[in-house]
Amino acid sequence: MCGIIGFTGYTEAKKVLIDGLTTLEYRGYDSAGIAFYQQGTINTIKTTGKVSNLAEKVKALDTLELQAESSCGIGHTRWATHGGVTDTNAHPHTAGKVTLIHNGIIENYRELELLLKKEGRNPISQTDTEIAALLLDSLYEGDAIKAIKQTVELIEGAYAFCILFADQPEVIYSLRNSSPLVACHTKEGSIIASDMVALIDYSKDYFVVPEMHIVTLMKDKVKLTDLDGNLVCPRMLHVTWDMTAAKKGGYPHFMLKEIHEQPESLRNTILPRVQNKLPDFTADNIPDSLFHGISRIIITACGTAMHAGLIGKMMLEKLLRIPVSVEVASEFRYQDPIIDKGTLVITISQSGETADTLAALKLSKERGAATLSIVNVKGSSIARESDYVLYTHAGPEIAVASTKAYTAQLSCLYLLAFRFAYATGKMEKDACIDELQQLLHAVSVLEEVLSQDKIIEEISIQVKDKEDLFFIGRGLDYALSCEGSIKLKEISYIHSEAYAAGELKHGTLSLVTEGVPVVALATQQKVYSKMISNIREVKARNAFVILVTVEDQEAEASIYDYHIVLPKIKDEYAPFPAAVVLQLLAYYTSLHRGLNVDQPRNLAKSVTVE
Ligand code: F6R
Repeated sequence: MCGIIGFTGYTEAKKVLIDGLTTLEYRGYDSAGIAFYQQGTINTIKTTGKVSNLAEKVKALDTLELQAESSCGIGHTRWATHGGVTDTNAHPHTAGKVTLIHNGIIENYRELELLLKKEGRNPISQTDTEIAALLLDSLYEGDAIKAIKQTVELIEGAYAFCILFADQPEVIYSLRNSSPLVACHTKEGSIIASDMVALIDYSKDYFVVPEMHIVTLMKDKVKLTDLDGNLVCPRMLHVTWDMTAAKKGGYPHFMLKEIHEQPESLRNTILPRVQNKLPDFTADNIPDSLFHGISRIIITACGTAMHAGLIGKMMLEKLLRIPVSVEVASEFRYQDPIIDKGTLVITISQSGETADTLAALKLSKERGAATLSIVNVKGSSIARESDYVLYTHAGPEIAVASTKAYTAQLSCLYLLAFRFAYATGKMEKDACIDELQQLLHAVSVLEEVLSQDKIIEEISIQVKDKEDLFFIGRGLDYALSCEGSIKLKEISYIHSEAYAAGELKHGTLSLVTEGVPVVALATQQKVYSKMISNIREVKARNAFVILVTVEDQEAEASIYDYHIVLPKIKDEYAPFPAAVVLQLLAYYTSLHRGLNVDQPRNLAKSVTVE
């Protein structure tokens, strides 16, 4: 968690840092701070709250006393882990000659703190980060690389650091273990950050900092070395996004923009993988040989990505007839999973940095599984750890609530199911061509549903003041209900739950009373009549029913209060357009409750801590 940035160059560093932090704010917004060299000394400005608070503080100080320009500094936007949300706990932290910012968690900070206290080095904050600063300062004798190496030999955990040394003006040292860092050098200077979106204004060419390597940023160059100071050549990457993709593009919120980007992001994800009308992973370097000998699939991920797995499971099992299980990564990693050579583990992650998913992947590899990840961020940790990667080409997703990454993940799982089934002879060529056509058709249907936003907004106004809400469905509709529920609760703060419709009468029905909203997904033809019976059960308790069906499905008006009809689509593909209904419902409900849609409380976009 947390966003970090460092800049040294030929323009005003404070501006570069504040602009970068604004872009990185989705990673945490409990507090923000910068430290910069000015007239030979390091100044630190930090505050609780958003980056805009910090910007105001910097502006006020600039007018008063700190007018002098600065061309080197580091900045941080915090999602609090250790220590409350206070000015003191905000980064940067200074100890002696060292000023640093950190993204991650130092797991053994308590032991280190005890050792440091014995030497009379006492922290003033409650953070694990300040312990790292104290430790580094205690080991620093003028050789930064040597002191950093000694420090990381002592600390355990996940970290990305940007470090200033008081006696080395205009130079930034940086390194990482697990937590993300990307860097570039341009004519304006050298820049490093947690995410490419903070670099894109300056360069489209960048490199992912390899783990346990040190980046030294100077005005005129960036140097990458190993921990012993040996030069290493960075592997440069190029992004095709432009800045407008990373900004709101005229929408009031990133979430709405990203919901509307889904047709494009889906086509970008699917079409490069179509060759001669068939799914083809040649350009992804995923050979068909991977699929031969696989007798079982485990999908592991967190949150929305895990919900994509629940849908993918059904498609994979339908076409492959092998068992597929979906495991929450934070549980899976601490279990004793049964994995053998015939197991394919699929990890799914938008950010590619989710700590639990990464750990689940590492465990799977240790146990001998073949691993394939579905990831949105190029060069991210999960992508690099996996044997094979199928990138979703959703572009940057900034809103904390995942939308376009989710549907792009679904499309990758479907493509995977098609290719796997075709390559192993479980699906004929013509059938495979047909499925791919259905998938592309689903994208067009999804596009049509985007225009139903008015009725969905009207429904959101009806439910916005409710305390509880239920999503019910069967089969794929149940899997999608799980996603609808998380989306609504995370940004509207309304309590909601997803229920398999057939399970209602085994307990939950007692919570369904007059006026309680129930979103009933009934897109699955094969269980339609069963679903209608379940809807009657909730309507009999006077629930406020929002029914979602597909064109041509009969539904008597007495069983619903609102009815959303999706264009005709096969059962297997209905989750694509139906997901849009649920995303828009969550969006408008949050909006009409007057909440911060893009940055819901207590959450952050990229969960790089356990
Ligand atoms: C919910 C949401 C989260 C993420 C989860 C995994 O809208 O976005 O539940 O899906 O934190 O994140 P990634 O996909 O980055 O691994």
